[in-house]
Amino acid sequence: MNKPSHEHTIAVCPGSFDPVTYGHLDIIQRASQVFEKVIVAVLVNSSKTPLFSLQERQKFLEQVTGHIPNVEVDSFDDLLINYMKERKAQVIVKGLRAVSDFEYELQMAALNRKMSTDIETFFMMSSSQYSYLSSSIVKQIAQFHGPVGDFVPEVVEQALRDKYSTR
Ligand code: PNS
Repeated sequence: MNKPSHEHTIAVCPGSFDPVTYGHLDIIQRASQVFEKVIVAVLVNSSKTPLFSLQERQKFLEQVTGHIPNVEVDSFDDLLINYMKERKAQVIVKGLRAVSDFEYELQMAALNRKMSTDIETFFMMSSSQYSYLSSSIVKQIAQFHGPVGDFVPEVVEQALRDKYSTR
């Protein structure tokens, strides 16, 4: 049987993206070179209360991935595997930063695979310069007016500054 090659595969990069960092962008960019299409899917309802609205999180992603033709930004409010089926996507792409990410990601990948055997999770090792980066750390730094220009694109840096401005 002829298996489809990865060149015809639709991949989904799911996440909260609150907000998008250079670490996310690195994974999205690298995934876009491997898969035919990459859908960046922003989770609507998370247990975490987001700093940025869904619209803001999507807008930042659109602004910073706009130059990559095979990347689309979308949102979902469902089990990830249901969304994958709806979008006819076969692969979930996740970035792994450190060993500490492994346990949670293993749990999610295993449960997703149990719920849907035809969807695979692919992991990419984060580039080393982003291995320490997370949206929550960036928010902590920005909250106290620390420099975040090395961690997030300029539109996000500005939005963080506005969000936490004391004026
Ligand atoms: O950026 P995050 O918050 O680490 O992303 C987590 C995300 C969105 C990938 C995960 O919470 C998810 O897939 N949520 C959708 C609901 C779902 O399918 N949950 C079961 C996973 S086993």
